[in-house]
Amino acid sequence: MSKEDLIKGLNEDLAAELGTVIRYTYQSSQAVGFVGFELREILKDEITDELGHAAFLMDVIVDLGGEPTTTPATFDKPAGLKAMLELDLEMEKHDVEHYQAHAALAEELGLVELKMKLEEMAADEAGHARELRRLVKGL
Ligand SMILES: [Fe+2]
Ligand SMILES: [Fe+2]
Repeated sequence: MSKEDLIKGLNEDLAAELGTVIRYTYQSSQAVGFVGFELREILKDEITDELGHAAFLMDVIVDLGGEPTTTPATFDKPAGLKAMLELDLEMEKHDVEHYQAHAALAEELGLVELKMKLEEMAADEAGHARELRRLVKGL
C-alpha cells in the first residue's frame, strides 16, 4: 500500500462526506411533523460534524500532496422518513468501516496522528449510527 492509495481512499471518504452534507440538508427539508422536528435537530448537529470531517480530509489530502475532490458522492432519495433513516444508518455504518480501513493504512505508512484522527472519525460515525438506530426503532 502506498501514499497514493491512501490519498485515493481519503478522496473517496471526502466525496462521501460532501454527499452526506447535501443528503442531510436535503432530508432536513423533507422532515415534517414531530418526528421530523427531532430529525432536523439531529441532522443539524451531524451536518456540522460531517463538514468538519470534510475540511479535515481536504487539509490532509493537500498535506499528502494530493488534490482534494470537490465532487460529492451521489445518493438515493427514498420516500418517507423511515426509508431515509434506514439509508442513513447503512451509510454511516459504511463510513465507520472505511475510516477504520484507512486508519489501518495510515498506520502502515507510519502516519500516527492521521491514524488516530481517522479512528476518532470512525467513532463519530458510529455515534451518528447509534442516534439514527434509536430514531428508526421508534418508527
Ligand atoms: Fe463524517
Ligand atoms: Fe456521520
